[in-house]
Amino acid sequence: MTATMNVIPTDTTLPTLRLLTCGSVDDGKSTLIGRLLYEQKLILDDQLSALERDSKKFGTTGDDIDYALLVDGLEAEREQGITIDVAYRYFATARRSFIVADTPGHEQYTRNMATGASNADLAIVLVDARKGLLTQTHRHSIIVSLLGVRHVVLAVNKIDLVDYDERIFRDIVIAYRKFTEPLGFRSLFAIPISARFGDNISSVSPRTPWYQGGHLLQRLETIEVEEDRRSAPFRLPVQWINRPHHDFRGFAGTIPSGRVARGDAIVAADSGRKSTVASLLIGDREVEAAEAGDAITLTLADEIDIARGDVLAKPDSRPEVADQFTAHIIWMSGEPMLPGRSYLLKTGGRTTPASITELKHRLDVNNFEKLAAKQLDLNEVGFCNVATTMPVAFDAYGDNRVTGAFILIDRATNETAAAGMIAHGLRRATNVHRHGLAVDREAHAAQKHQKPAILWFTGLSGAGKSTIANLVEVKLHARGVHTALLDGDNVRHGLNKDLGFTAADRVENIRRVGEVARLMTDAGLIVLCSFISPFRAERRLVRDTAAEAEFLEIFVDTPLETVIARDPKGLYKRALAGEIKNFTGVDQPYEAPEAPELVLDSAAETPEALADRVIAELERRGRIVAL
Ligand code: ADX
Repeated sequence: MTATMNVIPTDTTLPTLRLLTCGSVDDGKSTLIGRLLYEQKLILDDQLSALERDSKKFGTTGDDIDYALLVDGLEAEREQGITIDVAYRYFATARRSFIVADTPGHEQYTRNMATGASNADLAIVLVDARKGLLTQTHRHSIIVSLLGVRHVVLAVNKIDLVDYDERIFRDIVIAYRKFTEPLGFRSLFAIPISARFGDNISSVSPRTPWYQGGHLLQRLETIEVEEDRRSAPFRLPVQWINRPHHDFRGFAGTIPSGRVARGDAIVAADSGRKSTVASLLIGDREVEAAEAGDAITLTLADEIDIARGDVLAKPDSRPEVADQFTAHIIWMSGEPMLPGRSYLLKTGGRTTPASITELKHRLDVNNFEKLAAKQLDLNEVGFCNVATTMPVAFDAYGDNRVTGAFILIDRATNETAAAGMIAHGLRRATNVHRHGLAVDREAHAAQKHQKPAILWFTGLSGAGKSTIANLVEVKLHARGVHTALLDGDNVRHGLNKDLGFTAADRVENIRRVGEVARLMTDAGLIVLCSFISPFRAERRLVRDTAAEAEFLEIFVDTPLETVIARDPKGLYKRALAGEIKNFTGVDQPYEAPEAPELVLDSAAETPEALADRVIAELERRGRIVAL
């Protein structure tokens, strides 16, 4: 996808500038970069003649060269008229080298934008002079700011199409400054340009005499972006452990920030165990010191327990370690983010189950307002509390854009569902510790001569879950088994009376019930749970929190036609008439279990017979003593 450009070697003092171009579709991002490369003579002759030829064939600029084609590259993309994915381009002038992340402007590609922005020093925000600021301009600027980009060039493009009108330019700049005030940019530089005709790109245009700020390339070549990556505290997220033979144990990864030298004191952030650096390797070359950006292998003087995913630091500046923190997240999945649902959180080399425990607010990307919200949809940005199963070592994203970042992965599809930026750890996570219990779950269970279990009945409303669960409990009780029964209709009158039937509320309903059921198994009980529990993710969450072999998913499989015909509470009739919203099977989905421990067909057998099957299964699994 990346177009190859010839790179001119340079002798520069300023560090490479990583930049990102963003803006709406048709704002001229590709044309701008193409024009820059062309004017800098960074294009080979044969590329130039191909460009002239292609411009006639595919171009949108009449007989003129269409510079966008230079960047848009692949023919297939041209034919579709869109650019997809993030394309990185490397080029250099005599003064500086550049890495440009070009991201498409289509709304659904927020994900690519976030990818491109996460290590950019500067963003060029393109605005069409005729259109002014658009929703996309706002959205991209907010994302760019959330992702820690601190320098912005506002390029007001197509200034030729508004007759080089100073007023139009000034009005856009004033509006943009006002909008970006709360975003915390350190520099904002506005330039009127015409990417197509080359005004103020790499030479000052005579057609904008009212503008004295210099041209774009000048700004890019001279801007000083903080080189704070090197001066920030040393971190090394351990990506893998290199153990070619017994007397070598190397910890490998890329240094996101800081410096490390042989002999330095080192601490593993999680465990607090300390040692000193015995040797450092970059590739197979032994070095005295290494710094941000280097991929290294490090060995320690002592054998201390370090696992993949641990973060190494210096004892005097350690990252935070917690299992709860606040973060901004950018939601990138078509499936909404629901608080309470379990995702995989990946940061550095560590992956751990995690959930959003509270969505504090959603950010309106048009005006940076905080809105109350129950869930996040595609492209939405929220601020939330996150809880992880394993503690993670991290820094605030504002301090470190690598150790402060994470992604959330959808456990069902393995897709990246969100990008996250950590704000700070939550106190309570570090102040609250679990107590070891004197009478533990084994003791409780042994006294009752049974092994705890969760019998999780799932299925449509009216499927027969509660009827069967009740029968099972009666039979168990008669045998002297210690049980408890949690039922949707009952729990919703007490513990969960604050919850309704939206997807978000159902997730929370099941999360709470799962917690209660687990606590009851700690007391040695066999817990029967009868809930529609329509979503796979939450049933899996309960399964994951239960101890090994304790969770039995029992699918009461009754077809929708049958439950509609039965309609014991008259609810289907009302739901079908539109009087009840969010009704499972009517206007909300039911996700059938993929691998339940038992499937009960209530049309084929009597509730009595089905209850006996559940009991037989409990005996077979050794949870209760067989008679
Ligand atoms: S769950 O989806 O969150 O697991 P739960 O099992 O607690 O649902 O509650 C389901 C019961 O609530 C149903 O048996 C029915 O009596 C009642 N109910 C009321 N409104 C709805 C609705 N919109 N969808 C499903 N059940 C509903």
